[in-house]
Amino acid sequence: MTTQETIEIFEKSVIGNYTRSPVVLVKGEGSYVWDADGKKYLDLFPGWGVNGLGHCHPKVVAAIQYQAAKLIHIANNFYSQPQGELAELISKNSFGGKCFFCNSGAESVEAAIKLARIASAPGKFKIITMENSFHGRTLAAITATAQAKYHKGFEPLPPGFTYVKFNDLTAAQAVVDDVTCAIMLEVIQGEGGINIADKDYLLGLRELCDSRGIFLIVDEVQTGMGRTGEYFAYKHFGVEPDIMTLAKALGGGVAIGAIVARPEIAKRLVPGSHASTFGGNPLAAASGLAVFKAIEEEGLLENARRLGEYALSRLKEIADRYEFIKEVRGVGLMLGMELTIPGEKIVKECMARGLLINCTQERILRLMPPITVKKEELDEGLEILEEVLKEVKG
Ligand SMILES: Cc1ncc(COP(=O)(O)O)c(C=O)c1O
Repeated sequence: MTTQETIEIFEKSVIGNYTRSPVVLVKGEGSYVWDADGKKYLDLFPGWGVNGLGHCHPKVVAAIQYQAAKLIHIANNFYSQPQGELAELISKNSFGGKCFFCNSGAESVEAAIKLARIASAPGKFKIITMENSFHGRTLAAITATAQAKYHKGFEPLPPGFTYVKFNDLTAAQAVVDDVTCAIMLEVIQGEGGINIADKDYLLGLRELCDSRGIFLIVDEVQTGMGRTGEYFAYKHFGVEPDIMTLAKALGGGVAIGAIVARPEIAKRLVPGSHASTFGGNPLAAASGLAVFKAIEEEGLLENARRLGEYALSRLKEIADRYEFIKEVRGVGLMLGMELTIPGEKIVKECMARGLLINCTQERILRLMPPITVKKEELDEGLEILEEVLKEVKG
């Protein structure tokens, strides 16, 4: 089938809720993908953060193949070894909590919201979230997402959410009241533009939650599984959440989401209170186990730290040469370049030259290379990016 034939099928039969590039991807390996016409792309934004280990990591492929031939799915009223083992690994590498599995980031946010409410005293329901946050597309998740553009046309939204400025402790303190049950945030806002929380701010939020008896929920859907050089980004800040959400890179490409909650909170999700038919099935969990195995055996947290620092310093050098680059920021391999001009054309021009990156909030170029990335691949990508920036300048 040609590219045009595939696009025609989409136009006829797939709902047009995405802005798609006219490219049909057919194959992936490591940091590269190929389209139906044989063109090769260096993918420094693979799968919107899902392909944290790059495309078709051999350990993930082997685990999926083995598990698919053995047992793909069972109902969650039976036990399966992969789900138990995955929960144990997440717990051991975070804060000793217990897991519930679902299939996506938005579902994990939903589960966190429901748990925060049910585990709080009757009458406590309000959740405080941050301006420029992003928590997903279900009704509760868009309501938690404090950006009006995601709400438009979907009102009335569920009640019980209050928004405050990110990195402003006084603003959060001012809106906590007797009906508040939780504060939820991304410690590094992804879609919001790679906005990094201050350490003192997070310590202050932790203290605020403790003193007012409310839960701190950290959304690690985008930052989790080694993206920032730690398994979970909260570890950079010396605070621990009460509830954490996960998805994206957790399954190495297979759909899986999770929440982790301190045991005394987790016990409030009793049979009948919450569920997910597919959540944590043997296939998805086996894939998640392979992700942990690869991270450990291949030293990928260290790779994300080392190459993240390298990429950040090179991006800063580039920024010095162009007056339309306002700032470069990032932690590990979660990188943003804020421009004073729109970035979409730059992304398109990079794609034409075989480099995939992203632009968020119209002016912030976002790079999230796989944590398996090699230095030579980063060099290749940054060279293409600079060629394009030069053209923009000219
Ligand atoms: C921080 C964060 N939370 C939640 C979500 C929603 O995840 P999903 O698209 O898997 O529902 C995203 C997606 O980008 C995200 O970045």
